[in-house]
Amino acid sequence: MKNRLYFKSLDIKVQKKAFESIVKECGNIGYYALPEQDVEPLLAYARMIPEHIKNIAVIGIGGSSLGAKAVYEFIKPRKTLSRELCFFESTDPISIHAMLDTLDLALTHFIVISKSGTTVETFAIYKYLLTLQSDINHYTFITDPGSPLEQYAKAVQGKVVYLPCNVGGRFSVLSSVGLLPLALCGIDIHSLLEGANFIRESFFEKGYILDVLLKKAAFYAKNHSQYHINCIFAYSETLTYFCQWYVQLWGESLGKRQLHSAFHVGLTPIGLIGPKDQHSFLQLITEGTRDKSITFIKIEDFEEENLTIPDLVLPHLETLNCLNGLSFNALINLQCDSTIEALEAQGDIPLDCIMISKADEYQMGSLIYYYELLASLVGKLIDVNAYDQPGVEAGKSILKQKLQCRR
Ligand code: PA5
Repeated sequence: MKNRLYFKSLDIKVQKKAFESIVKECGNIGYYALPEQDVEPLLAYARMIPEHIKNIAVIGIGGSSLGAKAVYEFIKPRKTLSRELCFFESTDPISIHAMLDTLDLALTHFIVISKSGTTVETFAIYKYLLTLQSDINHYTFITDPGSPLEQYAKAVQGKVVYLPCNVGGRFSVLSSVGLLPLALCGIDIHSLLEGANFIRESFFEKGYILDVLLKKAAFYAKNHSQYHINCIFAYSETLTYFCQWYVQLWGESLGKRQLHSAFHVGLTPIGLIGPKDQHSFLQLITEGTRDKSITFIKIEDFEEENLTIPDLVLPHLETLNCLNGLSFNALINLQCDSTIEALEAQGDIPLDCIMISKADEYQMGSLIYYYELLASLVGKLIDVNAYDQPGVEAGKSILKQKLQCRR
């Protein structure tokens, strides 16, 4: 991964302090160590799922589903996978119905994921599915030790896989939460973790990634009142769900009341996909309020060298002859470069560009861990606890009260 910053960030002392606080919390925040974990037990578990199972269905929401979905949707178009993966994340009855129509329940293994073990959406869907598939051997439960879900699973003799200690929902994609469903579909989880580990080493061993992440985090924090909207502009449709994962990571980690003041602060994430959003949101970036930073994500080699624009001359459309013979890979990256150049010329829009070499598990693992570290660093610098979500919890508990009143 290469990351070019088009802005300057000079607060060296602030950067050093942020790094030191991250190093300090490595002992009690679980996600930092995930790239180094031994995945053999998870793979051994995955091998026990019968071969005739053709579909894996995750039942979970937020941090319990978005990460695996981001990886799966990125890899799926380029790799022949052994099983299909789908996600029951919503209580939208139309989407539940539509998804069920695509599944043969006898050939489906369900993974019910809930760290807390009590999330309403997850259990509403689970209860419904249980009426359609009552064989408990078709389910795996992923949760924290001691949760109500663990107790339930034990009571019904269901199979339980645990989350590692102190790994928060939105930081859990590289734990059993993401790795088990992905491994069951034939995604190379070793490679995913190797990519993450490359970023981990470069960060903690004071390499290039430490330098860019500190500069970026310090810039975001210092300018968070002005540039309080952080857009990812990803030039591949396959990064759509990565953007959704980023929106959750950023929004839920960084929108908080400060730890040492009564101020509410936050950075607003937006996920854009190029070139599509060049024809919509780009106008707002270019000429609208100067409140947005933009991170472009480019894929150097889409490994689709045969997909080229044919040498066709169309009457009245001769100005477009310049497209002839160009690969779509070259075209989409030219579009990205042109957008960067246009925005750079504005002079007051903070930009950076992350270039990944290709669309594989290794690069996705790098991107995920890069963004997790960035969220932790920015959290330190804007003085919020990046790992809790009191705002989400409040809504959850009001819903539970409303549901109790029905009875
Ligand atoms: O990041 C988070 O903590 C949340 O988005 C949770 O993942 C989400 O609320 C689901 O919670 P749980 O895994 O406890 O069911």
